[in-house]
Parts: sequence; C-alpha cells; structure tokens
Amino acid sequence: MARIVAGISSSHVPAIGAAIDNKRTEEPYWKRVFSGFEKSKEWMAKTKPDVVIAIYNDHASAFSVEMIPTFALGCAAEFPPADEGWGPRPVPVVKGHPELASHIAQSVILDEFDLTIVNKMEVDHGLTVPLNLVFGSPKEWPCPVIPLAVNVVQYPPPTGHRCFMLGKAIRKAVLSYPEDLKVVVFGTGGMSHQISGPRAGLINSKFDKAFLDNLSKDPQKLVRMPHIEYMREAGAEGIEMVMWLVMRGALDDKVDEVYRFYTVPASNTAVGHIILEPSRKGAKKAAAKPKAKRPAAKTKRAAARKIPLVRKGKR
Ligand SMILES: [Fe+2]
Repeated sequence: MARIVAGISSSHVPAIGAAIDNKRTEEPYWKRVFSGFEKSKEWMAKTKPDVVIAIYNDHASAFSVEMIPTFALGCAAEFPPADEGWGPRPVPVVKGHPELASHIAQSVILDEFDLTIVNKMEVDHGLTVPLNLVFGSPKEWPCPVIPLAVNVVQYPPPTGHRCFMLGKAIRKAVLSYPEDLKVVVFGTGGMSHQISGPRAGLINSKFDKAFLDNLSKDPQKLVRMPHIEYMREAGAEGIEMVMWLVMRGALDDKVDEVYRFYTVPASNTAVGHIILEPSRKGAKKAAAKPKAKRPAAKTKRAAARKIPLVRKGKR
C-alpha cells in the first residue's frame, strides 16, 4: 500500500531559479537563501521518496488566460520545463507517474472533487524551483513527480477549506493505491509578497511565522481564513499559501515538525520552508491500542443465551 511519509512546503520564487541557472548561489545574498535548504537536501537524500505529488500554481505558462482550471492534475508520462520568456530552464524533464495519477484522479473525482485531467503540460518555476531546493541540480530528478496545478492567479481561487479537503481526498487516494510507495507531498508558493501596485514589496514576517506555527500545530485555524485576510496581511500574491493547505490536508491530523527555515527577502518575497512528518507519538498510540472485539464472539455469546440477533418485525 502506498503511504504519505511527509509534507514539504516551500516558496517557489522565480529569482531563486535564475540564481541557480546563472550559478550565483555562492553570492552572499543567495547563499543566505540556499544555506537554509542544506538540511532539507540531507533529509530528502535519506527519505528517498518513490513519488512526489507537487501542489503548485502555473504562472500563465501552461494555461493562458483563455483557460484556467481550478485544480489540474498532471497524468502524463512527462512534463517538460516551460519557456517563461527567456527559454525553458535548464532543468531535467519532470517524469510523471501516470498510474498513480490516474488512480488519484479516479478516487478524487468520485469523491466529488472535479479535477481537470491534464495529459500534456509544461511546468514552470512554480514546480521546478522547489524541486531544485530539495533535490539540488541533478541530471535527472530522482523520482517521478505528479503535478497538481491550483489556480491562484485569476479570481476566484479555491478556498483554504477546499484545498485542505482536497488534500484529505488525495490522502485517501494514495492510501488505497496497492503498490508499496513512499509519497511526499509538496505545497509551494508564498510566503508574503506583493509584486505590483502601491503595496509592492510588502512582507509580513509576523503573519508568515504564525502561518507556519499553525500549519504545523493547528491547521484548523488556517482552514477558514478568507482570501481577503491573505491579501491584506500577506499581499496580493500571498494567496499562494492556500496551496500549502492541500499538502497539510494530505497529512495526519498530528504531525512532527522536522525542519523549518524562514528568511527575508529573496527578490521581493519572504521565503518560508517547512518539513512535516506523521506524528511518531500518534503512530505509537495507534500501535498500542487494544484490538476491537470480534463480532463473531458477540454472535457466539448471543447463541449461547439463545437470544435472536434480529427479531421479527424489527428489521
Ligand atoms: Fe508563484
């Protein structure tokens, strides 16, 4: 059976990708950002997921303004890097996992989440930058990645609650997949930033840090947060953080926070990153729970007392 072994969130700032591609990661400005992901790379090398499900948003690369799906699941065998205006990023083609993706599509759609199934799609920095941050810059990405694009660029984006519940539906789908796979779910985007208008450059570290606290310990506090609060507190593009709630919904209710990193700024954005694993305490408790009594024993006792289990006329 497949299982979700962790959730990771990180910002997906395009300038981080440009710093990698232009070999500027050792410059002091960028070293501050990249050094925060060294531990994550070590963690990832140890964890070795079989599949990543990456929740991200397309920035008018795969979908133009002519067509904007709210939730689009990549079911293709591969996803080439998109040309975002200066040629495709020099990163490996993302290999998909069509079998698990199709299984998720079936399970989630029959659970009444109307995903768009995408059989051909290019992926932009929203997906490739987080892969770089935790996998580095290998010749091939070390595992298949299933992209799930969420609309956060055209009003109205989905609510945080909807995202959280989609995460739960994805969890159910993964847990019902028969192959033994270790799955890590990524939530990307954010944190606070606004790229245009009178409030351009807005960063709200207090809001971001409280968001990280709640994501880890009390996600229900975030689930009902209205869009206007993201916009007011975290800037117009801060709404990307609803995607982190898909990741959080896919995890257990209780999680252990394995790692956190926060720095300001990268370009004009606050960079936040967190790694969450299923709670070890919760796993121990579940293992120690006494087994439920078998219904067969109840039947035997009833038979011994000659009490009919179903009385006539009481069905
Ligand atoms: Fe973005």
